[in-house]
Amino acid sequence: MFAITGITGKVGGEVARNLLEGGRPVRGVVRDFRKGEAWAELGCDLVAADINDAGALASAFNGAEGVFVLVPPNFDPSPDFQEARATAGTLRSALTAARPGKVVYLSTIGAQATQSNLLTQHTIIEQALGELSMPITFLRPGWFMENCSWDVASATNDGVISSFLQPLDKSVPMVAIADIGRVAAELLQETWRGRRVVELEGPRRVTPGDIATTFAELLGHPVRMEPVPRESWESLFKSQGMKNPTPRIRMLDGFNAGWIKFESTESGSRKGRVALKAVLRTLIESR
Ligand SMILES: NC(=O)c1ccc[n+]([C@@H]2O[C@H](COP(=O)([O-])OP(=O)(O)OC[C@H]3O[C@@H](n4cnc5c(N)ncnc54)[C@H](OP(=O)(O)O)[C@@H]3O)[C@@H](O)[C@H]2O)c1
Repeated sequence: MFAITGITGKVGGEVARNLLEGGRPVRGVVRDFRKGEAWAELGCDLVAADINDAGALASAFNGAEGVFVLVPPNFDPSPDFQEARATAGTLRSALTAARPGKVVYLSTIGAQATQSNLLTQHTIIEQALGELSMPITFLRPGWFMENCSWDVASATNDGVISSFLQPLDKSVPMVAIADIGRVAAELLQETWRGRRVVELEGPRRVTPGDIATTFAELLGHPVRMEPVPRESWESLFKSQGMKNPTPRIRMLDGFNAGWIKFESTESGSRKGRVALKAVLRTLIESR
């Protein structure tokens, strides 16, 4: 049996779907049983646990052949990342108590970066879980192609998309959530020893300009990408309600300057199958 956290979300749902399609038993870890009903109907066992509750997580992970650990996104962490430090300790306690056969942790591109930024949350958790004695894989996907969901309305209605990724012709490793879920399910069924890192990106790297061009092809009208001036980010993010925009700004700086990147070279990362165009088509159709 495989225990899947975040099963009601995008990546966790894809991991579970792939395992179920392969006939593997799945235990969905949910916060609210009502949100898990669709998974129960597909044959999943459901258990309730919050990511901050070590005892409930230990029960949820107990007896699992493999555990998929997904930490919910926090775009506005405290300056000292105390939330990620607490989650790291909780997960370490729960996994130590439950001793599942293996763990796949959903991390991120750039988790090895030494400069503080939003992704430091994953660096902290990787460090804590890397000390566990069971086999653990840190799956580090690139920028999710589905982040373009934020751009569908402006591309469709105005023919303009705002880009924080700059310059517009700089390519970034991006990946579709379908590929992340498929690869995570495959990794859970592999056998390995100790700690390993798997970096994952799509079939080819993507520039912000490619995103505009692909939207234009799919929508049948011109779409241009407009860089958001760097000096406006702080006030913009604060106006959107963020208390501490620095980590997010530093993350964007890291992508743009190139210090947020894969640890391996481009040839060292696993490649997904799903192209940007397929993801954007789905996002447009589901709007
Ligand atoms: N976006 C990117 O480009 C990118 C790139 C690399 C890595 N990542 C990482 O990917 C992860 C996000 O994955 P996603 O897009 O699949 O997330 P998502 O769709 O937002 O799903 C989040 C999941 O976490 C659950 N959750 C929320 N709060 C919880 C809590 N307190 N306790 C237990 N479960 C809780 C949610 O359950 P409910 O249904 O109950 O809310 C949901 O199942 C983050 O760790 C992020 O850093 C993102």
